[in-house]
Amino acid sequence: MKKRSTKSTPSIKIAPSILAGNFGYLADEAKRIEASGADYLHVDVMDGHFVPNITIGPQVVSAINRATDMFLDVHLMIYNPFDYVERFVEAGADMLTIHFEATEEVDEVLNYIRRCNIKAGLAFCPETSMSMIPKYLDRCDQILLMTVHPGFGGQAFMSEVLEKVKFTRETCDTLKIPMDIEVDGGLDERTTAECYRAGANVIVAGTYLFHEPDMALGVKKLRNANN
Ligand code: DX5
Ligand code: ZN
Repeated sequence: MKKRSTKSTPSIKIAPSILAGNFGYLADEAKRIEASGADYLHVDVMDGHFVPNITIGPQVVSAINRATDMFLDVHLMIYNPFDYVERFVEAGADMLTIHFEATEEVDEVLNYIRRCNIKAGLAFCPETSMSMIPKYLDRCDQILLMTVHPGFGGQAFMSEVLEKVKFTRETCDTLKIPMDIEVDGGLDERTTAECYRAGANVIVAGTYLFHEPDMALGVKKLRNANN
């Protein structure tokens, strides 16, 4: 087995995105994700303003939460995230990731999420300068680097984001911060391996895992993609 390139890299986590599931059977899809041996259940919340798509809200997150004991990794692609933190916490989110581009109160929202005793994540769109990232490394539990433009599943991986992943991991190593670095969009075995090599350790995958007839095998393949 190959050694991971950095000692401080936290453990690999696989996060299937329920966005690629069958919305007529969300509880069953949540149970399928749980049975696959994945680590997180990734939920994509979109408001039709920050991104040109509308998906699900707190009520549906709550239904997913009732169907499974999994860690809910909730990705908020919405403006004014501050106004919705409480509702998603009540719905059962274990981590709330907000977008850097969606609010002028990034610090306040991250602090508020942490005060609610859940984990706080900060996401960056592909075109956002990586110079914005270091300032927030001690203010959140996870950095999410989008590897597609947020809004839709099934898009092609943007390899230019690998540079941002590498920069973030190197900066965390220099500062001795054992950060979870999540990547999201266009991930399959090949692109996951590239993300591991750049320093990511949390892999969100929708299309790839839901198209794999045996999701557990898909999860295993992504977990071992770097071996
Ligand atoms: C895109 C979402 C992703 C998406 C990933 O805005 O944040 O989580 O569902 O889907 P795939 O794996 O299909 O690219
Ligand atoms: Zn997502």
